Amino acid sequence: MAAPAICSLGKDLANSIVTFLPLDEANQAKKNNIYQIRLKRVQDDEWSISLFTLCSEGWECDGVVYPKITWMKNELLSKLAKWSTEDKKSEFKSTLSLIAVDKYSQLYQCLKEKYRDMVKVWPEVTDPEKFVYEDVAIATYLLILWEEERSQKQLREKQSFVDLGCGNGLLVHILSNEGHPGRGIDVRRRKIWDMYGPQTILEESAILPNDDYLFPDTDWIIGNHSDELTPWLPVIASRSSYSCCYFVLPCCFFNFYGKYNRKSTKKTQYREYLDFVKEVGDQCGFNVEEDCLRIPSTKRVCLIGMSRTYPPTQEKLIDEQRTLYIKSQHTDSLGLSSKSSLDQDDSRHLDCHASDTQVGNLDSSLVPPEKLTESWMPGFQPREKEERIRNCALLPRDFIDKTVLQVAKLLLDSNSEEKDPRINDQSKSVWDTGRSLTLREVAEHLEVDTLQKLKNECGGLQTLLRNNHQVFEVINSNVSIRDWRQEVHTNTNKRRPEAKRTAPSDVLKTRLCWFYVNHPSGCPRAAESCPYAHGAEELRPSLMPRKNRNSAPDGYCSSSLVLM
Ligand SMILES: C[S@@+](CC[C@H](N)C(=O)[O-])C[C@H]1O[C@@H](n2cnc3c(N)ncnc32)[C@H](O)[C@@H]1O
Ligand SMILES: [Zn+2]
Repeated sequence: MAAPAICSLGKDLANSIVTFLPLDEANQAKKNNIYQIRLKRVQDDEWSISLFTLCSEGWECDGVVYPKITWMKNELLSKLAKWSTEDKKSEFKSTLSLIAVDKYSQLYQCLKEKYRDMVKVWPEVTDPEKFVYEDVAIATYLLILWEEERSQKQLREKQSFVDLGCGNGLLVHILSNEGHPGRGIDVRRRKIWDMYGPQTILEESAILPNDDYLFPDTDWIIGNHSDELTPWLPVIASRSSYSCCYFVLPCCFFNFYGKYNRKSTKKTQYREYLDFVKEVGDQCGFNVEEDCLRIPSTKRVCLIGMSRTYPPTQEKLIDEQRTLYIKSQHTDSLGLSSKSSLDQDDSRHLDCHASDTQVGNLDSSLVPPEKLTESWMPGFQPREKEERIRNCALLPRDFIDKTVLQVAKLLLDSNSEEKDPRINDQSKSVWDTGRSLTLREVAEHLEVDTLQKLKNECGGLQTLLRNNHQVFEVINSNVSIRDWRQEVHTNTNKRRPEAKRTAPSDVLKTRLCWFYVNHPSGCPRAAESCPYAHGAEELRPSLMPRKNRNSAPDGYCSSSLVLM
């Protein structure tokens, strides 16, 4: 199978136009995906850059090799403009610099095809497309890297691995399925673990930085967005055995204790953090290499330790150096905040963090004393198995429903003079959108008791209203009733990923429509275009476990009323 490529059809240099013709696996042109980038001089030094697609109707996208038009419009063009005007050397290595790109592309296509169905059955709250294709990309990278390592070191067996903080375990599943013996460990098991089958080994356990968590028989230690475990990865690998290697893809910034605190403003925080994780690898005695993965995530740089800077005979000496180094990091971070620095943009973390997760802090009360004595870092605190959820999702259902109804009535109060002018727009039917109020105004109408209950939840009123996304729209602290007719017209809502706007089929019509039940004019959408049930006869049984109903239907977010 040929590697798919975006092949430049033609460069019309005189007019500054480049036409791109993407090819599919069989080297056939994907006619629907032809696009042009045009550069035009506006005047003197001013240029404009534009994107033209041949036909946006049949545009196929997977968000990786074939990007979405909205992404090209909103992200790519501004990036191109930035890159073509800035004059600084990139802080990062070029993409896939340590492996053969052609082999990578070929294998990526095969694996993407092979694991494509995972997207359909993804039971987690996170965006399946992003996860599946990103994990396929990371697996592909490792498989090629390992293949090259085998031929270089003349290894006959496929390398074994342990993925620390494996989360949903998909990477473990793919690598195992591709013949590498290994397992994943995470402090919190996921629903999806049950779907992989017995050949995918996943263990629920908290990793602590001590001699009990070494992997002497393992060839590679993997840390993929491994959060507070990230700086420990090189340490664990170096102490596991002389031949043990590691691969780490850092994202959120953690040191050995908790939040990584920025030291300089000369570099970006990301670059500085990568340099820190690289320094840990150096100090542990690795020749650390850096590469950039081909993934949609903004954090694409991985650090790899594949060989050592010292001979095996110096192990003891180097280990003393490691201990000293870790100790020196302790004094660096004493007294500093222990809150994690979370990558909120990255959907990968949606199922990984609660907003007030306690991580890697100096409170040692939860770690058994016998563990503390052995620890390489007294005071390291793994995150809790069950993250405390304080985003209003655990408030009693009837309390949520009552408050939602109260706020909605307030907005729909027809005697109000401050009615939204949209209601007078003759082009729309007279479905009442009510008025818009500030959060403060809404709060003034709620009972003290209600406010107190909400205050105990982080985010309070705003979070409750945002969670009830079907009913409310909250923009810049202004609350209004969501007008789904408008949502249909402006379906290019930039901030919501496309997949999040479409309710997956298994949650369609599993809950009653709030508008159908509560709004004086019913639901503005016809039954066939509303993902919620218009009447009990439309209700389908939900496949989601009961406790998760709050987060579904995806994209329409947790709505208000469950009348089942
Ligand atoms: C950001 S998520 C990434 C998950 C997965 N590797 C991925 O890329 O999708 C970080 C994961 O590390 C796990 N984790 C954090 N600290 C841990 C520890 N001390 N022991 C085991 N797992 C831990 C968390 O439970 C979480 O699943
Ligand atoms: Zn409806």
